[in-house]
Amino acid sequence: MPSDDFNPLRLQTRCARVQEPVNSATRPLVPPLSLGVVGVVSDLEQIDALYEGRAEGLIYARDGHAEAERFARKIASLEGAEAAWATGSGMAAEAAVFLAALSGGDHVALAEGLYGKTIRLVRDQLTRFGVSYDLFDPTHPKSLEQVLTPATKLVFVETISNPLLRVADIPGLAALTRPRGIALAVDHTFGPLLGRPLAWGADLVIHSATKLIGGHSDLTLGVVAGSRGWIDRIAPVVTTFGFSAAPMDCWLASRGLATLALRVERACANALTLARRLQAHPQVCAVHYPGLESHPDHQRACTLLSGFGAMVTLDVGGRPQADHVIRRLAGRIPFAPSLGDTATTLSHPATTSHRGLRPEDWARQGIHPGLIRLSIGLEAVDDLTAELNAALDGLEAVPLPPSP
Ligand SMILES: Cc1ncc(COP(=O)(O)O)c(C=O)c1O
Repeated sequence: MPSDDFNPLRLQTRCARVQEPVNSATRPLVPPLSLGVVGVVSDLEQIDALYEGRAEGLIYARDGHAEAERFARKIASLEGAEAAWATGSGMAAEAAVFLAALSGGDHVALAEGLYGKTIRLVRDQLTRFGVSYDLFDPTHPKSLEQVLTPATKLVFVETISNPLLRVADIPGLAALTRPRGIALAVDHTFGPLLGRPLAWGADLVIHSATKLIGGHSDLTLGVVAGSRGWIDRIAPVVTTFGFSAAPMDCWLASRGLATLALRVERACANALTLARRLQAHPQVCAVHYPGLESHPDHQRACTLLSGFGAMVTLDVGGRPQADHVIRRLAGRIPFAPSLGDTATTLSHPATTSHRGLRPEDWARQGIHPGLIRLSIGLEAVDDLTAELNAALDGLEAVPLPPSP
């Protein structure tokens, strides 16, 4: 292929090479998405300076990139943390915390009712490397005290658990971990902006940004925030194991953060109204929502949180009833096993998030096939009420399962 008078380079070369950036006296109001994997280094002096920390700069995306940095800085500021690090998913953030905090022979205390995959990460994976664990009730710090051993290095808890939405006594747990030098990590996925775990005494706060932070079910991302010392321990785990976040997901999540406060406020308000209304429905056996006075952690939720969260769990009796409601809601409130979308979705914990747990774990945690967890969105609450009422009304005809 020929060159031409304006450019001595052949067409193949012009195709292969990246265009120079466009000059502009202005800068975009919104930072442009940067997908580049690798930085261009000017010379050997600069590469030495970059690797030795004498110059700031991004070299390779697995080790860090502008989108991850921008997203993590915003999370650090929202959580009141010195630093934060983005990861490829919520589970990647959790795995990085476990791997940074624990070595063979160490013990970790896990809150009852954690996300099923979190329990499995420890039970099925970390135990292969000589880590042991015990479960405790995060609403009763005394129960944590009973499982602590000299080998305990980490306590892991969720602010609001799934699906019964129990609110952990994080200040009470921190009063036990702090004096003993044990790290307290809080998965705050269900409670962004509703409280700051680090201010309650936790050492690390983790989010699955796939959920409310991203807010549109179109990205997979995690983040962990804490002291500079902790993030300096966690970052090499992320970059070495390859748990790193993708630029596009970080960019989308940064955009999601712009509306997070509004979305959380609206979803919490809708959830409270719906929980109160559903409580009065004759076909609903129970409604689990920390904003209801009937919830066992209502008082703690009032003290600790600035809102009661966007999740509401209904007990409709058994699997046939749950299946009936799920079918009746199809096309309106979809069965989509995630949470935190702008639109209301539902999940069935027994067959999704808690599927891999043993029957005895279910029994202890109060999980059964009649539970439906709603992730409340931003719709008009009267529409949601009408749709749920219509689905529940038909339940009279569904035979109740035999009592166990
Ligand atoms: C409370 C909680 N933590 C962590 C995770 C894992 O997040 P991800 O799916 O982004 O890996 C989930 C996922 O559902 C979750 O519900």
